[in-house]
Amino acid sequence: MKPINVGLLGIGTVGGGTWTVLTRNQEEITRRAGRPIRISTVADRNLERARQLTGGQARLTDDAFSVVSDPDVDIVVELIGGYTVAKELVLKAIENGKHVVTANKALLAVHGNEIFAAAQKKGVMVAFEAAVAGGIPIIKALREGLSANRIQWIAGIINGTTNFILSEMRDKGLPFADVLAEAQRLGYAEADPTFDIEGVDAAHKATLMSAIAFGIPIQFDKCHIEGISKLDAADIRYAEQLGYRIKLLGITKRTQAGVELRVHPTLIPTKRLIANVEGAMNAVLVWGDAVGATLYYGKGAGDEPTASAVIADLVDVTRLHTADPNHRVPHLAFQPDQLTDLPILAMDQVETAYYLRLRALDKPGVLADITRILADSDISIDAMLQREPAEGEAQTDVVILTHVAREKAVNAAIARIEALEAVVGSVTRLRMEELKG
Ligand code: HSE
Repeated sequence: MKPINVGLLGIGTVGGGTWTVLTRNQEEITRRAGRPIRISTVADRNLERARQLTGGQARLTDDAFSVVSDPDVDIVVELIGGYTVAKELVLKAIENGKHVVTANKALLAVHGNEIFAAAQKKGVMVAFEAAVAGGIPIIKALREGLSANRIQWIAGIINGTTNFILSEMRDKGLPFADVLAEAQRLGYAEADPTFDIEGVDAAHKATLMSAIAFGIPIQFDKCHIEGISKLDAADIRYAEQLGYRIKLLGITKRTQAGVELRVHPTLIPTKRLIANVEGAMNAVLVWGDAVGATLYYGKGAGDEPTASAVIADLVDVTRLHTADPNHRVPHLAFQPDQLTDLPILAMDQVETAYYLRLRALDKPGVLADITRILADSDISIDAMLQREPAEGEAQTDVVILTHVAREKAVNAAIARIEALEAVVGSVTRLRMEELKG
């Protein structure tokens, strides 16, 4: 049977994994896809590396634009990354009537609406399973497996680097900076780790899941993003004492008023399965009204785990290659003319529970003043912890867990607490999620 021809843009970690797995499992993949999937052309700046990996089995070039214009290429796999050249290449491939498979979450989170509209117009597929949570088939689950449900919320550990750092901080009681340096030494964190540690990578992924879950356009610019670089090891310890773990979560929720879309360090009860996802692993918890809670766990990065998602997309595209474009699975799960304009809520509208830590003078009436301020703002206290002051110290740490409250009210209460004479410095505020099924 005539093979389908793939043009691979970038044969680095994921591209190399894709080549290896396609070659190793060729026979089974062909039986699934209905015809052989063959990487006919590889574009990479490092031609020597490409030659070593492919052993003369594919045409090699350092000109990616020649691949997206090659009439013999049916599917373009974009593994270059970034927003600029990758965007040009993807749009060119679409313009030339080629299907695209990409792992590029940044590109889709920022330019996805434009890219999917172009693909829709041209009747080609743009598949992106590898863009979210690496090898975990979460896009497939949200777009197809859960399509009976009204999805209510998603909460995911969708960045392995930060989960590794948080796990190490908790296990070893080390500060953020020390663990980051160790993660870089071990190759878990990039030389420039900004996108990972500041939550941007997780926000790209959360934004894509939010669009698919709720049938809304992709709106990365409305995602609230906080990373873990300012997280204090003391808060991880206090959270643990109160029965919680801190994870960097990508959260999106449907509420009466609109959609919450946010990435930030979050306290979650230790007894939840997702709280026990450690190291560089990823996990996504989805709540649908019919199915209840479902949890997806696996490797969110790496050569063969990510290749697993890329190749699953290649199989899908190969199967549907000749199908009428109107009868394919829509790119964003909902039919393109059926997206809704549910607003993404500003952060001060968000309602969740809070962890507050403050340093206060250990003298009569201080706690009463603090709890009065919270009561005035209609914020109910769930639990409280006060550390015994160290020998000779006049100050102590007070930790308060609140019930669900609106962020605007919590911020206003914090400003009043910080203005108290007996409170030293600023209040640390972290958000908490119960994640109850
Ligand atoms: N840098 C990501 C992570 C993997 O640490 O999970 C690719 O999105």
